[in-house]
Amino acid sequence: MATHRPVSCGLDFCAAPNLNNCLHQATTNKFDFVCVPLVHPNFKREFFSGNAKERPGPFTRSDMLLCSSDWNNLVIGKLSPYFNPDSKIPMLMKNSETALNQELSLAAHLGVPAITFKLKGNIQKHMNLARIIYDKIMTTCIFQVWVQVPMENPAKQAYTYRDDEEHSLESPWEWWNSFRTVCDFERKIGVALIVSHDLPESEEIDRWLGEPVKCLIFPTTLFISNKRGYPVLSRAHQTLIKKFCSHDIQFILTGANRHQNISNYHSYLDYLWKSCQINGPVEKFARGYEDYLQCPLQPLMDNLESQTYEIFEKDPVKYTEYQRAIHMAIVDKSKKLRKTEPMLVTEIRAIKILSKPLIKFIVSYSVIMLVGAGRGPLVRASLNAADHAHKNVKVYAVEKNPNAVITLQALVKEMWSNRVTVVSCDMRNWEAPEKADILVSELLGSFGDNELSPECLDGVQKFLKDDGVSIPSSYTSYISPVQSSKLYNEVKQCKEKDKHAIAHFETPYVVHLQNKYDIAAPQSLFSFHHPNKDIVIDNTRYAVKKFTVRQNSVLHGFSGYFDAVLYDTVKLSIEPNSHSTGMFSWFPIFFPIKEPVQLKTGDEIEIHFWRRCSTKNVWYEWCLSKPICGSVHNPNGRSSTIGL
Ligand SMILES: C[S@@+](CC[C@H](N)C(=O)[O-])C[C@H]1O[C@@H](n2cnc3c(N)ncnc32)[C@H](O)[C@@H]1O
Ligand SMILES: *[C@@H]1O[C@H](CO)[C@@H](O)[C@H](O)[C@H]1NC(C)=O
Repeated sequence: MATHRPVSCGLDFCAAPNLNNCLHQATTNKFDFVCVPLVHPNFKREFFSGNAKERPGPFTRSDMLLCSSDWNNLVIGKLSPYFNPDSKIPMLMKNSETALNQELSLAAHLGVPAITFKLKGNIQKHMNLARIIYDKIMTTCIFQVWVQVPMENPAKQAYTYRDDEEHSLESPWEWWNSFRTVCDFERKIGVALIVSHDLPESEEIDRWLGEPVKCLIFPTTLFISNKRGYPVLSRAHQTLIKKFCSHDIQFILTGANRHQNISNYHSYLDYLWKSCQINGPVEKFARGYEDYLQCPLQPLMDNLESQTYEIFEKDPVKYTEYQRAIHMAIVDKSKKLRKTEPMLVTEIRAIKILSKPLIKFIVSYSVIMLVGAGRGPLVRASLNAADHAHKNVKVYAVEKNPNAVITLQALVKEMWSNRVTVVSCDMRNWEAPEKADILVSELLGSFGDNELSPECLDGVQKFLKDDGVSIPSSYTSYISPVQSSKLYNEVKQCKEKDKHAIAHFETPYVVHLQNKYDIAAPQSLFSFHHPNKDIVIDNTRYAVKKFTVRQNSVLHGFSGYFDAVLYDTVKLSIEPNSHSTGMFSWFPIFFPIKEPVQLKTGDEIEIHFWRRCSTKNVWYEWCLSKPICGSVHNPNGRSSTIGL
């Protein structure tokens, strides 16, 4: 069932002299959590000199105010804003460092889910802060760090009338990028984006989609009133929210209430969030799998399970497109036959005794071979196509998975009877009793050829008539460079016994990519055509692709897609620009790279891709040569192969 995810929105307080009151106010107005200073602003601490050094008593509220589950779920702790551990004045630097450590250790003690603070510039201003935070996170902390970053450089307003200088203004994304680079892309460190009144270019917004944005902070000043006096957001801000719809993010409302009731802001954000959730078949199918790494299936080496077949058979697009393609192929074939009819007629005349209906049968009789029939959905599509074309067909359903063969045999018994012959064997070893007019298969992976469709079809094409067709007739893989801190961390996190950590960066993953930014548009990589009429069949490939970087960003790997021509104009595609609407059988594939690469506007990315084959395996190797030269990933298939 499709459920609309409710919004999770917190209420920010610039001071919380009475925490229970704040929580009460937030919850009665429907907010889900609060964001409060860990220490009251008045309690600035001075450890080395000054009046506050002698201040007696506790420096903040007691943990007894709330039960620990409330601390764990309802409170985001803000660090004191005056900290400057990067101050050039030694005393200030020291004092900040001590006070900062005090608050970080308090946050750990309380068990708040996250702490947050604001970045005010790039790493030159924050090196020591970054070091302290990273240090703490690596050693003790369980909480997340939400780094607040404004969407627009606050200095921009000062430059409004001086256009030329505006261009040299650094995007706050650079502040974040340098900060998290210093912290080695630590996954507990995320972004809290402060939404600005004027939004940056859409390309710049898109870059945030490849970042671990944990929350969007909305100042109440961004809201305008609708006719009935309720707070609403401008079109541009609504579009912004929409872009983050498939991400796992929360909101924070900050600033004074400027409308009747502060709960109205929450209601509006909740309404927006729910209404932008897309509930198409792909989204419904993929819910819960966002950015989750899966190892690609190996249907050749392993046998698929009943459940896997069942999921794929629910695809609302794939089978209708196959049926359309098979129908067209049958119709085209019978047109061709009609042209060669004189010959057939003489043939038939030679056996004059045949009855009329039988003659008709001979004239339009087609052989379809379904290789890799699974539980038979494409057999059904073939029979339907033949029925619609009013043609007779004979179908061979070849399947190497003995368990799926049981299903096929049952279907023959119950429905298909002598129209379908089930063959239980590997198509590469099959000795077919006759030749086929149409060879139908679906052995495609997310990257087209990665489930070894080329090798399987080459093995069976000798049983295709000279003028026979293969459905699919061709397929092509695509790659594009992506920025995704999330996926980088997911790969980094993979740990497996007997596997070197690097191995995970040399493995392609099937993944429903969401938290990513496309650095450049996809380009085609490898193509395969069937039947393959080359004298020497060679399924190895090598290609070099070049991409131009549109804006400063970080390269974490390459996303992969495919499209396939089933027959003539009938196509299937998961390439984003031509994605078959509603088709969910394939998620994209992701090829990681071992180290993130910092990119500058105008840089050229040059990536080399190989498809390599041995007698036992097929595998990919990839290597970056620009803007910096990397090392070959997966040499000789040491970390990942696909078994033949
Ligand atoms: C992706 S599934 C497609 C199943 C079904 N045709 C469908 O579209 O739902 C591929 C099927 O091909 C079978 N298969 C793969 N390689 C094969 C081979 N060399 N010989 C016979 N069957 C093979 C697998 O066992 C699997 O059932
Ligand atoms: C605001 O709305 C909330 C929730 O609907 C309600 O409980 C509260 O009493 C309202 N506050 C005022 C001041 O009207």
